[in-house]
Amino acid sequence: MSVDPVALWDAEAPAFDEAPDHGLLDADVRAAWRDLLLGVLPPAPADVVDLGCGTGTLAVLLAEQGYAVHALDFSPAMVSLACAKLADAPRRVRDLVTVRDGDAAEPGLAPASADVVLCRHVLWAMPDPALAVRRWVAALRPGGRLVLVEGDWSTGAGLTAARCAEIVGESCARVQVRHLPDPRLWGREITDERYLVVAHP
Ligand SMILES: C[S@@+](CC[C@H](N)C(=O)[O-])C[C@H]1O[C@@H](n2cnc3c(N)ncnc32)[C@H](O)[C@@H]1O
Repeated sequence: MSVDPVALWDAEAPAFDEAPDHGLLDADVRAAWRDLLLGVLPPAPADVVDLGCGTGTLAVLLAEQGYAVHALDFSPAMVSLACAKLADAPRRVRDLVTVRDGDAAEPGLAPASADVVLCRHVLWAMPDPALAVRRWVAALRPGGRLVLVEGDWSTGAGLTAARCAEIVGESCARVQVRHLPDPRLWGREITDERYLVVAHP
């Protein structure tokens, strides 16, 4: 019996933000992610597409820093929580974020419309990751970048950094991988492989 991925993520949604790196509810963890992302994004203002946005945590975090964020997720439960999070945010943040229901595999982005395509913990789950990356890269403006956060987790799920770099390298000329062992990002010590990829077409 095949499992519907949308139903699986819908089921994850209510408790999703409880993990420190998901909800970023702890100030130190939140600051660690803000510093990490600001270190690899172009200066704000810039247009960021957040694919598989989950409960909208990163979208809100980046809008707080002045980025316009166009977020999408295929899980209605995740989208609904992202909209609720946004509704609680200050007006200046709300005005910078859109959230919609959509498939990251075919996000329907206009060519050369984004400065950044950001995707955290989603590529590993895509049925055809190379095709998805090709579409994401086509949405980048000249000088734009792809920013991915992925892992090869102790749960058995995920993508190794080497495989991820290979997939992204099919569409991008410059691919940089940075490992992320810092416990501040995760709210605890980790032993598995977690990393950031920044790539330019
Ligand atoms: C591990 S969560 C990460 C959420 C968010 N990016 C974050 O880092 O907090 C994976 C998210 O990707 C979404 N997702 C997985 N595959 C997707 C797809 N093909 N299209 C859109 N969303 C997808 C899931 O619904 C879920 O919200």
